[in-house]
Amino acid sequence: MNGFTRNPITEATDTLHHSAETQSLAAALDRAAHGAVIVITGAGGGIGRAIALAFGKAGASQLLLIDAVANACEATAAELRQLGAKSIVRCYELDLTSDDAEQRLNDVLQDAGNRCDCLVNNAGILGWSPIAKFSLASWKKVFDINVHALFLCTHVFLPALLSQQGGTIINLASISGVEARPGEAAYGTSKTCAARFTDFLDAEHRKDGIRSFAIHPGGVRTDFLRGRFISANWDLQELEARANEIVDRDLLKLKLAV
Ligand SMILES: NC(=O)c1ccc[n+]([C@@H]2O[C@H](COP(=O)([O-])OP(=O)(O)OC[C@H]3O[C@@H](n4cnc5c(N)ncnc54)[C@H](O)[C@@H]3O)[C@@H](O)[C@H]2O)c1
Repeated sequence: MNGFTRNPITEATDTLHHSAETQSLAAALDRAAHGAVIVITGAGGGIGRAIALAFGKAGASQLLLIDAVANACEATAAELRQLGAKSIVRCYELDLTSDDAEQRLNDVLQDAGNRCDCLVNNAGILGWSPIAKFSLASWKKVFDINVHALFLCTHVFLPALLSQQGGTIINLASISGVEARPGEAAYGTSKTCAARFTDFLDAEHRKDGIRSFAIHPGGVRTDFLRGRFISANWDLQELEARANEIVDRDLLKLKLAV
């Protein structure tokens, strides 16, 4: 099957995974994260919490955990201690859409000694409603966190990555940003923005050693996927087998086809 006739969601690879265990990337994360300073937004919730635990287990030296909900990151930190993680864990109750978010993020960066090896822009909210019934206020709320806060965090931490001549930025995207499903206009469009923003990030900073990924939650272990959209459900070995085609034809990007 050639790349143009595949359904981008269900047929990017023939094998699809729906369980975290099937594609354990623990060993790869171990090598990448050991001794690293990791900033994770939304780290008090589902996927952000799991990302923090994975980086803690992999030996990150510092974990800077941000969440709007009081005590949410402390709960993640307690779990990290239970797991025996040796990372220094700093918790921040911080609403990324608040007026003082930029200042507070700069304080986080300072606490980390102006170092950041990996930024995970994970914090996000849903917002599902038919367009005719969606209020402007609700629409803006979705974009404030899913798009504007993602930009803001990147804007604050990127200079640290650049001064270290490299690092990784992981933006949590979604299949909703690629496939137009009724009722998901706000959330889906915001996630399209997250994926497209990743594309621009890669265009501006690949040369500086910044690895940026837009992920439908999952793991990334291959360089040829930089700047592209990746789903955790796709089989990485199958993607790797198509690496040359993906690079040559610039696949897994949001763009116009003619
Ligand atoms: N769960 C899925 O199946 C799925 C699928 C596709 C994409 N995603 C994306 O993955 C990311 C995490 O999803 P999840 O399912 O773990 O969500 P979740 O709601 O369980 O966790 C999100 C966390 O972000 C925090 N947060 C929300 N607004 C914030 C703000 N203004 N400032 C700081 N923190 C804030 C919340 O308090 C929460 O702890 C989101 O970006 C989501 O869109 C999730």
